[in-house]
Amino acid sequence: MRDIKNIAVLTSGGDSPGMNAAIRAVVRTGINEGFKMFGSMKGYQGLISGDVVPLHSRSVSNIIQRGGTILKSARSKEFYEKEGRQKAYDKMQAMGIDALVVIGGDGTFTGARIFSKEFGVPIVGLPGTIDNDLYGTDFTIGYDTAINTVMEAVDKLRDTAYSHDRLFIIEVMGRDAGFIALTSGMATGAEMILVPESPTYIDEMLYVLEKDWKKSKTSGIIIVAEGDDFGGAMEVEKEINNKFPEFETRVSILGHIQRGGSPTAQDRVLASRLGHAAIMTLKDGVSGVMVGVVDNEVDLTSFEKAIKQHQQMNLELLDIARTLAI
Ligand code: F6P
Repeated sequence: MRDIKNIAVLTSGGDSPGMNAAIRAVVRTGINEGFKMFGSMKGYQGLISGDVVPLHSRSVSNIIQRGGTILKSARSKEFYEKEGRQKAYDKMQAMGIDALVVIGGDGTFTGARIFSKEFGVPIVGLPGTIDNDLYGTDFTIGYDTAINTVMEAVDKLRDTAYSHDRLFIIEVMGRDAGFIALTSGMATGAEMILVPESPTYIDEMLYVLEKDWKKSKTSGIIIVAEGDDFGGAMEVEKEINNKFPEFETRVSILGHIQRGGSPTAQDRVLASRLGHAAIMTLKDGVSGVMVGVVDNEVDLTSFEKAIKQHQQMNLELLDIARTLAI
């Protein structure tokens, strides 16, 4: 690997709480190890446009507790194209940036993998997404905060559901993965949890609902991941209204509130450990990998594996949640 002196860090794709804590850890560890640190604004787009700023210890003061990302984030369309990546590489050469630390999800790592193969740029990735869908880490940065945000919201919705004898169908984020739905659903005692990892059989669901109500339930919570195969909370509500017009239903789509907010202690610590590990990995001459934490140990996984293998869901938890909701 080439001699690394200057490292740029960037955040790309959907932001997640804890990205700032990760930036802080990357920058301060980098400085401590004798590297010059930079930040590329708006993900890969900053490399293309040359919007790259020097980062010092004080540049990352007072951010460990802040949601969002001080470096901003984007899904750069230009970087999808070879021409865009060539521009990014040329700018990096001109600015003397030798290596990258990228914080994001599967889109970010897909870009990193192609870019490092094409131009030989050393890149290490940090899993920053609320979705928790990456292979090679037990948890992604932002997931814990997101499930706690959902839990608080659902607890509030349950209060009003109870008062009015209503059934709430709550849609949570997760385009391709149902981890937010599963965990927040278990944590809130949801009557039903619908996730993309398990097909939704609507008739079965309606039958179970009917049984619940016969057992004298008067209100309830259904959590639906946005990527569920049945098509989201609105679709589920339609089916329920057709079959049980007597049920009073309401839909609540939690949306981007799940992406913001001050990170939990768990996300701050995870981000700090992984930010540190990313720099040490580059220093050891290793790249093309995502750093993660598996069984409480830092682990390295190739970008390819992290993207392709996906985090496996323990579907038994869905059954347990259902058993506990009778
Ligand atoms: O990847 C994280 C995520 O929050 C998904 O769960 C969601 O589908 C998506 O981002 C929405 O992102 P955006 O509104 O930025 O396009």
